[in-house]
Amino acid sequence: MSKILITSALPYINGVPHLGHMVGCLLPSDVYARYMRMMGNEVLYICGNDEHGTASEVGALKEGISVKEYCDKYHARHAQTYRDFNLSFDYFGRTSSEQNKEITYHIFSQLDKNGYIAEKTMKQIYSVDDKMFLADRYITGTCPYCGYEKARGDQCENCTKVLEPTDLINAKSTISGSTNLEVRETKHLFLNLPKIEPQLVEWLKTKEAFWPDVAFSIAKKWVKEGLQPRCITRDLKWGFTVNKEGYEDKVFYVWFDAPIGYIGITKQWSDEKPDERNWKEWWLDAKDVRYVEFMGKDNVPYHSITFPATMLGTGENWTKVDYLKGFSYLTFEGGKFSKSEHRGVFAEDAIKEFPADYWRYWLMANAPEGSDSSFTFESFVNTVNKDLNGVLGNFAQRVMKMTASKIGSFVPTGAELEAVDREMIKTIQSRADSYFKFMDDLEFRKAIAELRAIWVEGNNYISATEPWVVIKENQTRAETILRLCLNLVRIMAILTAPLMPQTAEKMLAKFGLSVKDMPSLKGFDVEKEIMFLPAGHTFETGDALFERITEEKMTELQQKYGGANG
Ligand code: MF3
Ligand code: ZN
Repeated sequence: MSKILITSALPYINGVPHLGHMVGCLLPSDVYARYMRMMGNEVLYICGNDEHGTASEVGALKEGISVKEYCDKYHARHAQTYRDFNLSFDYFGRTSSEQNKEITYHIFSQLDKNGYIAEKTMKQIYSVDDKMFLADRYITGTCPYCGYEKARGDQCENCTKVLEPTDLINAKSTISGSTNLEVRETKHLFLNLPKIEPQLVEWLKTKEAFWPDVAFSIAKKWVKEGLQPRCITRDLKWGFTVNKEGYEDKVFYVWFDAPIGYIGITKQWSDEKPDERNWKEWWLDAKDVRYVEFMGKDNVPYHSITFPATMLGTGENWTKVDYLKGFSYLTFEGGKFSKSEHRGVFAEDAIKEFPADYWRYWLMANAPEGSDSSFTFESFVNTVNKDLNGVLGNFAQRVMKMTASKIGSFVPTGAELEAVDREMIKTIQSRADSYFKFMDDLEFRKAIAELRAIWVEGNNYISATEPWVVIKENQTRAETILRLCLNLVRIMAILTAPLMPQTAEKMLAKFGLSVKDMPSLKGFDVEKEIMFLPAGHTFETGDALFERITEEKMTELQQKYGGANG
């Protein structure tokens, strides 16, 4: 058993998540966490809201409530949505917590003490019309590197370059649209990345094994281009007041305390049950912790460079990322999902249309690993009807109905296995083994293709063995086949559980079983598991696992959410 720390990038509190956010780190991290738990590991799975920054200030202003009230309101909404999608966080916390403040202050003090904090007078963009200094992301303009016209002041979404707002060409305020911007001087604190660089490069070398990942090529490129000191303070009110003399009127930059939030949130978790839990066992001088991070690709530079550099600069032994899983983007019906432009399906609405597992399956089977992938209702409906209803659902329902009508609602006795049965067992075992391997390697699409192949194999087996024909002449042989098929339903449920937890429960409940009583996936032995349900074990066929989605419903969805024909 190993200790596995899993974090999903902390969603910004402002606004609500859409399907792109769900698949961009939240869902994959959950599937991984569930899988790793089922493998018998000790898992700590942490997430929470990223609350600081101007976005919250502006959002609160728009709604006419305090920033605190605004954050409380949206935190509750995020938390509810993630519960609805069955994300199994051990804790879903907040970066604004006292615990995070305490750790942020500590880390900053260490960096300062070790000489990694530089003071600099910098030029910052002041919006005369908005009467405020503009946060980086509230300035848009043309990227000086790639020419993308909607680059934000902190980063170009197109080429992923991290920017300073003064780099932008033709900058304007996104709050008021005003171009009446002035560059004013103000004093700020900087993280001296060039000074930490040698340590960082050494550390990155130890991660070389993971460099094939698209994420690490971004990191490598970043280092090659040369690290710049990074400003970590802002002229805002909402945030952690800087704990340094002369800077009390400023707050830490949201990207400084956000990743530290993983630790702060772990401390929130641990403070709830201090006798049982200890955040340090995961983060500080922690032994045998494997740390896996999930995020969208725009987050990669912060997680592979800035955050590790921050932790290295403390001179303390903080847990740093061992494997970084970055995702590309999900597009919506050929265009961009957009929170601000209200295009696409929001998670809150998605869950009102269909059960979580329908979304979990489509999103993970089509996860934007490597390159972008595109959500269309046509593909979604097809997948639900074919893969879920037609393959998995069909197998379970068919096997149970057939057994119930021909024999009774219990596992029949049967006799010795035949060659075709042993062949099926071998195939399922080898598929299961590659499913595990792909899950271990965080290759989700490939893993799910194997899982689906296992469902298909069940259907192939029953078609090939034709128990409904055989039963007319050889009842015992038909019983053997159906006994194996019923056990296969249980095996499919176990293997499917990390991806579709509710469906797995529904399948197991038919046999009076539950996921929590299932065997560890480690060393999963199909030959043994297929004998698990003994003769006489009763079941209830009950409802179908999935509902078919009609053409009419598809058209309705496309119209409602701005799909192909909508
Ligand atoms: N809020 C950021 C985003 O949605 C992610 C922050 S990840 C953290 O892009 F680690 F910094 F918290
Ligand atoms: Zn660019």
